[in-house]
Parts: sequence; structure tokens; C-alpha cells
Amino acid sequence: MKGIVLAGGGGSRLYPATKSVSKQLLAVYDKPMIYYPIWTLVTGGIREFLIISTPRDLPAIEALLGDGRDLGLSIAYAEQPTPGGIAEAFVIGKDFIGDESVTLILGDNLFIGQEFDAQFAAALEGFTGGAEIYLKAVPDPERFGVATIGADGAVQSVIEKPADPASNLAVTGLYTFGADVVNVAGQLPRSDRNELEITDVNAHYLHRGLLRYMVIPESVQWIDTGTPDSLVAASLAIQQHTRDQESEIGYVEIAAFRRGYLSQDALLRIAKRTPSDVYAARLRLAAKGKAS
Ligand code: G1P
Repeated sequence: MKGIVLAGGGGSRLYPATKSVSKQLLAVYDKPMIYYPIWTLVTGGIREFLIISTPRDLPAIEALLGDGRDLGLSIAYAEQPTPGGIAEAFVIGKDFIGDESVTLILGDNLFIGQEFDAQFAAALEGFTGGAEIYLKAVPDPERFGVATIGADGAVQSVIEKPADPASNLAVTGLYTFGADVVNVAGQLPRSDRNELEITDVNAHYLHRGLLRYMVIPESVQWIDTGTPDSLVAASLAIQQHTRDQESEIGYVEIAAFRRGYLSQDALLRIAKRTPSDVYAARLRLAAKGKAS
């Protein structure tokens, strides 16, 4: 399973914080935002990444993460020259995906809460093709893609930002597809806003009877950190989880260690050269065998 993090967008609702810095590099509590989606995928068992961003922001993201080797990962980079839609990531990532399944996560989507981790990892492990979306009950579904579930328990419809949503289940910015998604996305017509829409990809799989879903538990928070308020909310939630509940959320190094991608020695070496004593202490604690 390959992983794509789509870290595009101009961050207009966070201007001027995003005037010269990628939204995905802004801090969410103690880490750059992009650490959290990467952490989610690593926790799910993904080791090979493609990060897609704008020509302006890609160099700074690459300066942060490099080729991933230090983290026990492999990270490649690709530009999305213009805002061509989420599904364009599969066209851009064609060679990277090859003949493997792929999970895409939006660089500003945070999933906070341990109950999701094991469920997500199991979903990836058991994935055999088609498509899987991850739904979350929200009070304001009209802001998102919305899915309806029929009496038979299967997805009935997926509609992008419906004015009058038929359910409260938002399609979150996390998607798993078989390798054929490259062709599906490549053959889509552009939408009215001139984008390749992820909702059209999902609808395509739905019509073929291949769209599955998982509902994210109520105890797990999903935050799309696009506005000043949601950015603060995300920081507070992460602060609470890391400080008060000792969750390892967002610590990419620890997730890689737990997955066996980084050795104990490598994790301790990272801790040694980490300038923040607090951050280094967390890495050391994990290396010394504290349960997550
Ligand atoms: C995009 C998708 C939408 C999805 C959302 C999740 O919306 O088009 O289906 O629910 O991400 O964050 P956008 O952020 O482009 O408005």
C-alpha cells in the first residue's frame, strides 16, 4: 500500500499566516500540521509516501522531511502546478502508485483518537481493491462530500457539498483505492470549477458496486484545519491528547518505530539530536518500551 499526502491549496482562509508559508507547515500544538496525516498513514502501516504540493511550498516541505530515510520511511515529492482537484493527485502520482493500492490523505485532515487507529490499520491490511471511504457524522455536512447509506447497509450516494444533505455523514479527506484509480481519475471530465473531483472518483466506484466505507467512531475527532478557529481547536485537542493522555499522535518517528520501520537505536539517535528537550524525552520514553 502506497501513501499520498496532498498538501496543496493556498490556505486563503488562514491568510496572512499562509502568505509565505504552506498551511501544512503551520504548527498544530507541537508539530508541523503535515506530521499528523503522515502519522495516520504510518500508523496504518504505510511506509512509502508521495507528498504533493504547490511549486512554492514543496521545497519547504522537502526541507522538513527530506527523503524520509531518517524516519524509516521513503518520501518522494511531486508538484501540483495549479489547483486541479484532489483526484488529480492520482494522475500526478501515476508512476509512484504503479500497480499497488494507494491511500490518499489531505494534508490538513487530523484524526484524533486512539479508537480509529486499529480500525484503520485493519482496513488497510484487509484491502483488496475497489475503494474505501472514511465517514464521520458532523453537524454541518453541507460543507463536505456527503454519503448516504441504504437500508442494506451499503453506500447509496456520494454528493459533493449538497445544499440539502440527506445524511450527516461527511466524506473525510482520507481515501483508499486500488491501483486502477489512476485510470479512473485520468478519464474523469473536469468539474465546473475545473477540477478533478474526488467525489466523482467515489461515485465511479459506487456505480461499479465497489465503494465501501467505515464510520469513524464518535470518540474520534476529525478536524479539517482550514480556518483560524479549527487550527486552534486542533492545537487544543492535540495538546490534551499528548500532554494529558500521553497519546503518541503525530510523532511520526514513534509511529515508524512501533511499526518496525525504525530501530530502537535509530529512534534514540533522533532523540539525541532533537533540540527540544520535551520532544526528545517523548522519543526516549517510546524507545525504552513504554506502551502506547
Ligand atoms: C474536499 C472534498 C470533500 C471532502 C473534504 C474533506 O473538500 O471535495 O468531498 O469532504 O475535502 O476535508 P474541500 O476541502 O476541497 O472543500
